[in-house]
Amino acid sequence: MRSYRIAAIPGDGIGTEVIAAGLRALAVCSERDGGFRLAVDHFDWGSDYYKAHGRMMPENGRDQIRHHDAIFFGAVGAPDVPDHVTLWGLRLAICQPFQQYANVRPTRVLPGITSPLRHVSGPELDWVIVRENSEGEYAGVGGRVHKGFPHETATDVAMFTRTGVTRIMRYAFGLARSRPRKRLTVVTKSNAQRHAMVMWDEIAAEVAAEFPDVDCDKMLVDAMTMRMVMRPDSIDTIVATNLHADILSDLAAALAGSLGIAPTGNINPEREFPSMFEPIHGSAFDITGKGIANPVATFWSGAMMLEHLGERDAAARLMRAIERVTADPRLHTPDLGGTATTAQVTDAVCEALLGDNR
Ligand SMILES: NC(=O)c1ccc[n+]([C@@H]2O[C@H](COP(=O)([O-])OP(=O)(O)OC[C@H]3O[C@@H](n4cnc5c(N)ncnc54)[C@H](O)[C@@H]3O)[C@@H](O)[C@H]2O)c1
Repeated sequence: MRSYRIAAIPGDGIGTEVIAAGLRALAVCSERDGGFRLAVDHFDWGSDYYKAHGRMMPENGRDQIRHHDAIFFGAVGAPDVPDHVTLWGLRLAICQPFQQYANVRPTRVLPGITSPLRHVSGPELDWVIVRENSEGEYAGVGGRVHKGFPHETATDVAMFTRTGVTRIMRYAFGLARSRPRKRLTVVTKSNAQRHAMVMWDEIAAEVAAEFPDVDCDKMLVDAMTMRMVMRPDSIDTIVATNLHADILSDLAAALAGSLGIAPTGNINPEREFPSMFEPIHGSAFDITGKGIANPVATFWSGAMMLEHLGERDAAARLMRAIERVTADPRLHTPDLGGTATTAQVTDAVCEALLGDNR
């Protein structure tokens, strides 16, 4: 029996609700498969932990999860703790030191879900966004001086290294090559940002030469938003900086129907550290505790985690169960225009898993 150690960090708000649902579905998935088990360790890190201890996770937090096979993460953010404290104290405090430099965000219109784009019925929108996840605009480099004076000054410096850009380009080209259309769009802003973004483009062109079978084009980020809306079928794999992809992926999630179904993997491709899987959404204060959070993004993130662990059959079975459930509008949560609860969707996915005879 194959066994994997999973570190579950539900975090804040609906993070706790969707991770509980996700762990239930994963347990049923392993039971149905019979070939592997998941040993889950739970970590109560997040904003409540911060209020009690003055930090988002223990000082040796990363050491506690360093040897797990994967991390299953909910969301961070609380109305009474500044967002930069929660984000840098937990999520980025894991992603960056663990070199999870490839943030992979698949986007598809799942069966039964209506895209707000009137000309999209499903197959026209099938993308993977690869977000550079370790540097760029979120490198954390900068500072603040003369605090409280009229000449107070603050900087955030976008840091791009040749190593960082080359590795994300190689990852994105490799991923594009593994997909049927073998097409990659490099998102840039080298017209206005004439240093780092010019280097970004140059390195993209160098790496493109290593992947002659990948059809590659370049697009300014502002024009990319328009193309995503007007010509979604012209896009397959996208690579973009930390900030650009952060914004583009919320747009992508909305075009695919809801933020509540969008998954992500923070991948350390070299597997020197555990990779982390999470829904894209945040802690959603407005619906916390109401039992209506859409758990589909978390289920899909769980399927990505199984795939990463090498459990391809189980990952495919979980995706089939998700799609069977989304196909039924009676099982849509309010973000998709329905009335179903988190528990009803979770029950339905578990049932679909057990009933899947493939
Ligand atoms: N990865 C993360 O941990 C992460 C990501 C984004 C935001 N945040 C944090 O979350 C907090 C709230 O941020 P926000 O409101 O900008 O973004 P959000 O993603 O929490 O919510 C945006 C909107 O989408 C809805 N939504 C999100 N997930 C949903 C789901 N699963 N089912 C149904 N509806 C869903 C919410 O109800 C809300 O209306 C902030 O503190 C922010 O910093 C954390």
